[in-house]
Amino acid sequence: MDLRKLLHATCVAVGLFAGLVFAPYAQSRSSTQGPPPKWWHNAVIYEIYPRSFQDSNGDGIGDLNGITQRLNYLQALGVDAIWIGPMFPSPQVDFGYDISDYENVDPQYGTLVDFDHLLAEARRRNIRIILDMVLNHTSDQHPWFKGAAASRSDPRHDWYVWNDGVKDASGTLHPPNNWISLFGGSAWEWVPAVSQYYYHEFYRAQPDLNWRNPAVERAMLDTLRFWLDRGVTGFRLDAITTLFEDARLRNEPEQSGVNAQGDPIVTRIYTDNLPEVHGVIRRMRKMVERYPADRVLIGETYLPNTAELDKWYGGARHDELHLPMDMLVGFTNKLDAPTLRSRLLEVQTQVHGSQPLLVFDNHDNSRSWDRYGDGVHNAEIAKIIATLLLTSRATALLYQGEEIGQVTTVPTRVEDVRDPIGVTGWPNEKGRDGERTPMQWDTSNAQAGFSSNSKTWLPVPAGFEAVNVKSELADPDSLLNWHRKLIGMRRARRAVATGRMVMLDVQNANVLSYARVAKDGQAILVALNMSAAPQTISLDVKSAGVRQSTLSTLMMSPASMEKPVTANAITLPPYAAWVGSQ
Ligand code: GLC
Ligand code: CA
Repeated sequence: MDLRKLLHATCVAVGLFAGLVFAPYAQSRSSTQGPPPKWWHNAVIYEIYPRSFQDSNGDGIGDLNGITQRLNYLQALGVDAIWIGPMFPSPQVDFGYDISDYENVDPQYGTLVDFDHLLAEARRRNIRIILDMVLNHTSDQHPWFKGAAASRSDPRHDWYVWNDGVKDASGTLHPPNNWISLFGGSAWEWVPAVSQYYYHEFYRAQPDLNWRNPAVERAMLDTLRFWLDRGVTGFRLDAITTLFEDARLRNEPEQSGVNAQGDPIVTRIYTDNLPEVHGVIRRMRKMVERYPADRVLIGETYLPNTAELDKWYGGARHDELHLPMDMLVGFTNKLDAPTLRSRLLEVQTQVHGSQPLLVFDNHDNSRSWDRYGDGVHNAEIAKIIATLLLTSRATALLYQGEEIGQVTTVPTRVEDVRDPIGVTGWPNEKGRDGERTPMQWDTSNAQAGFSSNSKTWLPVPAGFEAVNVKSELADPDSLLNWHRKLIGMRRARRAVATGRMVMLDVQNANVLSYARVAKDGQAILVALNMSAAPQTISLDVKSAGVRQSTLSTLMMSPASMEKPVTANAITLPPYAAWVGSQ
């Protein structure tokens, strides 16, 4: 499933230098640098899908204690923070993205005590915890919605988006407009008890909250504070662009044809990215800034262009999200040097100096291994993607399994599908199970070390015997060790940590090249051959302010590549990735 495609088919800080340093996470830095960058500027943030990371109690479902058990792995990989998918109490219709209690832990995943233990153990390893906060909707089993759906006079009735519907000429009642759920069908669901429809952008079990009611904002900010007070570093704000809907409920413009769910294709101008949302985000940012230790707000921001992305940072004011995700680089789904170059350049230059957040993989889209791979050179291409992600001037998001090259494993029978999108959309839309299969740790059992139970909630793909953490740790050329080296370089080299990013050889249609140049002139060079033919390039490093000298190679793939001596002549085998310094 490609959620971005679905969204797009249908839709068109710099750090603040105040604030205290939270002792357990203190950063060392040299006194010759400018104002201290925030911890998140050069961070690697690792997304954990809790159901599929590590099962600790043998029920076939990942859990919080499982994450705690694997912290040493994450520390050795070099991650600064983990974003944990929703682990709050939930009927699990959308696997946690339907929350029925915002201030507790689902028993499937553990308890608040387990959570506090995870937090403490992570802190000991300098790993911060970011929670996934679902603000657009609740579960239909949340007490708020149960009350709201029972009676129009319930104090929380207006916390959701209701409408009486419209009657046609024959007197039959219909939803008020053509709004479509991203999970298939009308976005309106009838509730006989109140004789009204409610709006749900996602599944019908996920009623949208009415953010025009200030009580909703107050309740949600309270919830954020509950977790901030407990010690979390911040939030990944789920579906955050969709908080508001058009107050006049106007019809979305329809395009021709139908989507994979069989619904009309609409342009989401009245249900997505409405300007009203920015006021909420500014108030949220203010609240978060009152906490010490650089808490962060990250956004799931599928947007049509960089100008829209800039607004999510607060533009020149830098007063909204710290890190709205840039989905424009990572989801082009085509290994094409000119496209990637121009997208990278845009986010480097058109967001008022804010820090880009790059991402190629998550739990909603088929894996980058498959989206960018050509079926022959996938392993080499995965190293190119990793290099791009981890050497660009950007905060980097990694999704569990991306670092070892897990592949998308889509269910082959409808009865095996777990994701509601795959159930409503089968067979055109098979859902997101393919990118949510369990993490492949080792070959200790048929569950790849994920669980002791042979019945895991999603099956472990057959390929785990070759693709798993343990065997890749032992292989110097593995994708996992490639990631470890890249992350190590982010720590060790100022050019990668803080340097500006300068595109080189910008007319080249096959090779993407750039320099990262620190204030003191230290630099690294990166050249990525995105073609199936060998390429020889000449890089004008002087134009980037880099001293011309003999090159030393820091990393290269394939390992058999000949090390270049000078930037005037770098020969790259097909799909080569090369990183060097002057
Ligand atoms: C976001 C999540 C996705 C979820 C949806 C509804 O897109 O990433 O997994 O289904 O929001 O909450
Ligand atoms: Ca479990």
